[in-house]
Amino acid sequence: MFKNKKVLIVVSGSVSAYKSASLVRLLIKQGASTRVVMTKSAEEFIPSKTLSILSRYEVLTDLFSSYDREVVHIEWANWADYIFVVPATANIIGKIANGIADDAATATIMASKADKIIAPAMNDAMLNNAAVKRNLDIIKNDGWLIIDPEYGFLAEGYEANGRLQEPEKIIAEASIRLQAKLGKLKGKHIVITAGGTVEALDPVRYLTNRSSGKMGYALARAAVEAGCHVTLITTVDKEDIYGVTKIFVKSTQEMLDQSMIAFKHADIFIAAAAVSDFRPMTYVEHKIKKQDNYPLQLTLIQNPDILKTIGSIKNKNQIVVGFAAETQNIVSYGQNKLNQKNADMIIANDVSNSEIGFSSDDNSVTIISQKYSPKVVTKQSKIKIARIIIDSISEIVNTN
Ligand code: CTP
Repeated sequence: MFKNKKVLIVVSGSVSAYKSASLVRLLIKQGASTRVVMTKSAEEFIPSKTLSILSRYEVLTDLFSSYDREVVHIEWANWADYIFVVPATANIIGKIANGIADDAATATIMASKADKIIAPAMNDAMLNNAAVKRNLDIIKNDGWLIIDPEYGFLAEGYEANGRLQEPEKIIAEASIRLQAKLGKLKGKHIVITAGGTVEALDPVRYLTNRSSGKMGYALARAAVEAGCHVTLITTVDKEDIYGVTKIFVKSTQEMLDQSMIAFKHADIFIAAAAVSDFRPMTYVEHKIKKQDNYPLQLTLIQNPDILKTIGSIKNKNQIVVGFAAETQNIVSYGQNKLNQKNADMIIANDVSNSEIGFSSDDNSVTIISQKYSPKVVTKQSKIKIARIIIDSISEIVNTN
């Protein structure tokens, strides 16, 4: 996201100012050019020398410095593609919100048309103060991207809300939200199922499958990048992704129930879960005991088909996408599923190929839709495949 971009980091006076050093390093590692502006009070917490060495540029602290005979804050403001204010104190937030530009940091911010990201860090009482809340609302409405502080151990020696997010998280959240601003599916609500469903046999045993949930999580990330709000109905907990609300389920019936609820307010549904087609006819309350040499016979009954159920209730504005795990005749079997389940798109993959699918980090798929001819997507990482799938969905949504 920040490769070859010019990123200006504004550091204000919080104990967490030391974290700005990692932020600069991470941005440089991503291929960004960086410059740092510090407020007077920031210099109490971290030496400008540290940030100058890491950013590979002199640090601006003085509005009236004799830098190159140019009007320095204007030159720096025009230079930046992005401005990060990290950490942001209540004071600098107040100045930005109220149009005060009385030092190098606030004057540069005011003069810049760059995309602006701010990560507040302060004591919980200050964070809850009415004026601070009001100021944060103002800058949010002015188009600033606010990276909310987290709950954690504060400088005052107790746990509360107000702790600066870790620099890795700030960059990850900023990247995903900046991409989402330009996303082709901006503002859409998408529901995605992920993982393999789990069917209990008795209190200790269950039937399931090898699905890792990786494809579902990759789709969730790609959907957020495209501007969607995501509800991920999942059997596995893999990672937290900004903009994704996870709902944990186990059985197919639970996944169906949650899908039906979420789909009511959704624009798009993707059935990426590997759903157990069968479940034990009866759940045995106590652990099943073995009996001398007698085989145990299980009777399995069919589970509801989540994709088919959702496909049967969708309205003309809702897009439904499913997967087809096949070992042969990929396109024709995929097309059958498209029709049988009243889907708008089927992502068919060859599960006989051990190099792709289930636990693998890669996948290769054929995108089959009602509108377009089948599109083969060659083997690549699941996140890249997910972005191509989301792109194909956006083509359907935007021509619907
Ligand atoms: N699916 C579902 N509910 C089920 C079974 C499957 O929602 N009970 C969804 C899957 O999430 C996938 C699509 O249907 O998006 C196709 O799943 P797949 O296992 O390929 O096919 P099945 O419908 O189970 O048919 P078959 O096993 O006969 O190929």
